[in-house]
Amino acid sequence: MISHPDRVLIFDTTLRDGEQSPGCSMTQPEKLRVARALAELGVDVIEAGFPAASRGDFDSVTAVAREAQGPIVCALARCHDEDIELAARALAPAQRRRLHVFLATSAIHRQYKLNMAQEEILRLAAAGVARARELCEDVEFSPEDASRTELEFLAQVVEVAIAAGATTVNIPDTVGFTVPDEFAELFRYLRKNVRGIEGVRLSVHCHDDLGMAVANSLTAVVAGARQIECTINGIGERAGNCSLEEVVMALKTRAAFFNVTTGVNSSRLYPTSRLVSSITGMPIPRNKAVVGENAFAHEAGIHQHGMLKHHSTYEILRPEDVGLSRSHLVLGKHSGRHAFRERVQALGFELDEAEFNRVFEEFKALADRKKELFDGDIEALVLRAEGSAAGPWQLIELATETRSGGVARASVQLRHTDGRRVERSASGDGPVDAAFKAIEAATGITVALRKFEVQAVSEGEDAQGEARVYVEYNRRSYRGASVSTNIVESGTRAFLEVINRIEQAQAGTRPRESQAAATSA
Ligand code: KIV
Ligand code: ZN
Repeated sequence: MISHPDRVLIFDTTLRDGEQSPGCSMTQPEKLRVARALAELGVDVIEAGFPAASRGDFDSVTAVAREAQGPIVCALARCHDEDIELAARALAPAQRRRLHVFLATSAIHRQYKLNMAQEEILRLAAAGVARARELCEDVEFSPEDASRTELEFLAQVVEVAIAAGATTVNIPDTVGFTVPDEFAELFRYLRKNVRGIEGVRLSVHCHDDLGMAVANSLTAVVAGARQIECTINGIGERAGNCSLEEVVMALKTRAAFFNVTTGVNSSRLYPTSRLVSSITGMPIPRNKAVVGENAFAHEAGIHQHGMLKHHSTYEILRPEDVGLSRSHLVLGKHSGRHAFRERVQALGFELDEAEFNRVFEEFKALADRKKELFDGDIEALVLRAEGSAAGPWQLIELATETRSGGVARASVQLRHTDGRRVERSASGDGPVDAAFKAIEAATGITVALRKFEVQAVSEGEDAQGEARVYVEYNRRSYRGASVSTNIVESGTRAFLEVINRIEQAQAGTRPRESQAAATSA
């Protein structure tokens, strides 16, 4: 008898656990862009944030709840009435909503973090789930650090959560400690020993500290999990979470083995991955599975020979399956709107008319400076189109002077939205350093530079350089990025983006930066 594949729900937590990666915090408009992309990708659940963490988180959850069409919108809460009520309020505008309550259960967390006995944990878990159920039909419960919890006690906690009304039980490998065989055993143990477990959806949530988040999530599916919690590009606390694109493509490519399906439209994976990378400033490693630049590159002669005979010799996924339609089509200043629109669409971007017009104008301006424009240039134009941290400062003019062996000088002219125009010069160790110092002098904000990197986004001698700047200011991390054919200019603009993020944070117009609110119970 042929068994029909079961559906595995894809629960995306890029906006919650992903945003907890150092330096990955997002503004509300950025979160909305990601939420739209996730809905288009076809995820089942979007975990939009942790409303009790900050006012910014609360507002972002509400904004996503208002906007998201299709996916369930979920908010995280500790097993405290105030957290749960706040999360329920933040979710109020959602068409479909879920409350996700969590409480740590392992001996380590009980002793060092919570200072609570097992009985107290059981009582709090039951009370938290029951309160959440009063406010929402769809309630998920997570015993944090489940994989390091004594099995018998874990089974008791899960049982009380189910009895109190949990509809999904999520098993987190919070510190990425487990290994596939052991984790599958844990799921089998719970399925055998917990009363009522057959009536709830089992979920898995893995971190990647030992590089096994995807493998552990897949093994949980084999052992009965029917929801996977994951993030785009695997971003998240420390080494990150299970990567959505990898786990989805593993289930799809090895469908005959897993016998399950997801609702994800895999051709949206690559554009979504690029969008999240661009917004969070977290680059995608070249050799990253599924969406890395080298994922479909064949270097060795013997491989190239095989590929020419038949792609299946060395490729188990096709670039088109994940939405990567790279071409060597080159656009230039004579390319018209039609050709540009076709290329933008082939790269997986949907722009409304106003956005398209703005990007097309920028394309024309760039084509005047750069002979040939490649896919990487077009991606950079589109992804930067919304200028995530636009203002209050704007760069009006930049001039640099540099001589080999001597100090460099830079002058900047900036305009503030409050009407100020400021001009400052500074010298430094190279033109970029001088420009950063001139901006600090002009804005009165002095930061500790942690990292500055430049990467070509396309091919050719006149390739555009994407500059990324990472700084610390008042014990918080900030980042900025910019693209230009002139790397001193892209570095300067990236630095100014950092200053703008700091000013916005100070003015309270941005949610917290990377010092993510602790999710400890
Ligand atoms: O890693 C973890 O345990 C979590 C829970 C809050 C689900 O993120
Ligand atoms: Zn987590």
